[in-house]
Amino acid sequence: MTGGAGFIGSNFVLDWVANEKSPVINLDKLTYAGNLGSLASVATDSRHVFVKGDIGDRALVAKLLREHRPQAIVHFAAESHVDRSIHGPAEFVQTNVIGTFSLLEEARSFWSDLKEPDKSSFRFLQVSTDEVYGSLGPAEPPFTEARPYAPNSPYAASKAAADHLARAITTNCSNNYGPFQFPEKLIPLMIVNALAGKPLPVYGDGGNVRDWLYVGDHCEAVRLALKKGRPGETYNIGGNAEKTNLEVVQSICAILDELRPNSLITHHSSLITFVPDRPGHDRRYAMDARKVESELGWKRRVTFESGLRKTVEWYLDHMEWVNNVTSGEYRKWIDLNYGKRGQV
Ligand code: NAD
Ligand code: TYD
Repeated sequence: MTGGAGFIGSNFVLDWVANEKSPVINLDKLTYAGNLGSLASVATDSRHVFVKGDIGDRALVAKLLREHRPQAIVHFAAESHVDRSIHGPAEFVQTNVIGTFSLLEEARSFWSDLKEPDKSSFRFLQVSTDEVYGSLGPAEPPFTEARPYAPNSPYAASKAAADHLARAITTNCSNNYGPFQFPEKLIPLMIVNALAGKPLPVYGDGGNVRDWLYVGDHCEAVRLALKKGRPGETYNIGGNAEKTNLEVVQSICAILDELRPNSLITHHSSLITFVPDRPGHDRRYAMDARKVESELGWKRRVTFESGLRKTVEWYLDHMEWVNNVTSGEYRKWIDLNYGKRGQV
C-alpha cells in the first residue's frame, strides 16, 4: 500500500492487521500529512513493514515489488487538501498525477513478468474521491458510478487524472472522518480550535453539504473491493449522512459542551465565525452506495451521530498526537489559509 502514514491509510493499516493474516508493506513519503505516531501500535508487528519513500521514485518502487512480491497494490498516497491545492497546485499534479503514473508503470512492469495464477489475481486498487464528480444541485439524486467527471479544484482535477490513468478497481468515497485525521480538515480543525477557545472558521454561509463516512467503514469497503471487486469497475462509497457544514460544527460544539462542561467556554458554538468562502467551493456531494452494497455486500456500520461522538472523544483522549502534528509547519498553513480570511 501507499500513503499508510496518512489519515485513511493509517486506519487501513490498523484495520488490516486486526483482520487479515497477510503482511502489508507501507510506502509513504512522510509529508506534513504523514505521521508515524499514527502507527505506533503496530511499530513492532512483523505484519507491517514501513518504507519511507516517494511513489514517484521508480527505482525504489521496482525494488520493493521485486523484494516483497505483493498480491495487490492499494494506492492511498496523495496530496489531499482542497485549500492547499488552491494555494499551490504543483505538488498535487506531481504526486497525484505523475506519481500515480510512475507507480502504475512499475506495477505494470512487475505484473507483466508474473506467471499464472498470480497474474490474473493481481489487483491495483485506486482510492479516489467523490470530488471528481463536481457539485450536485440541491434536488439532484446522489452520484452514481455513471456520473461524468467534472472536477472543480486542482485537487479534484489531479485525482480525476489519476483515476483515468489507472482505470483499475477504483473506489470513490465521500468525506471521511475519525481518528488520526490531520487537523487541517473540517472536523478535526473544529475540535482542536474549540478546545483551544479559538474561532471556528465556517466558509461562506455554512450551507455546503458533505456526505460523512466513518473511516472504519471506508477501510472495510476497500478491503472488500480488493477481494471481490471487478477489475475496471468503480465503486462509490458513502455514509448516507448528508449534513451542512454548519450542522457538523454545531454538533461538535454540542458534544464538547457535554463532555467539557468545565471548559472556560460554556457554549462552544459561540466560537463559530463565518469567513470568506473557498474559491470554486462545491456546494454539495452525496454518494449512491447501492453498487458496493449489492455487489460487494458492504454496509455502513457507524451512523454520523455515533461516529462523530467517538471521534470527538478520540481527540480528547489523544491530545499528545494532536500537539505533535500541529507544531512547526502546521502554524504556517493556518496563517496562510486563515490570515487572509481575517482569522488566525
Ligand atoms: P492524507 O493527506 O491524510 O495522507 C496522505 C498520505 O500520503 C500521507 O501519509 C503522505 O505522507 C503520503 N504521501 C503524499 N505524497 C506522497 C508521495 N509522493 N509518495 C508517498 N507518499 C506520499 O490523506 P487521506 O485523507 O488519508 O486520503 C487518502 C486517500 O484517500 C487520498 O488518495 C485521497 O484522495 C482519498 N480520499 C480521501 C478522503 C477524505 O475524506 N480524507 C475522501 C475521499 C478520498
Ligand atoms: P474539508 O474537510 O477540507 O473537505 P473537502 O473540501 O474535501 O470536502 O472541508 C469540508 C467542508 O468544510 C467543505 O465544504 C469546506 C468546509 N470548511 C470550512 O467551512 N472551514 C474550514 O476551516 C475548513 C477546513 C473546511
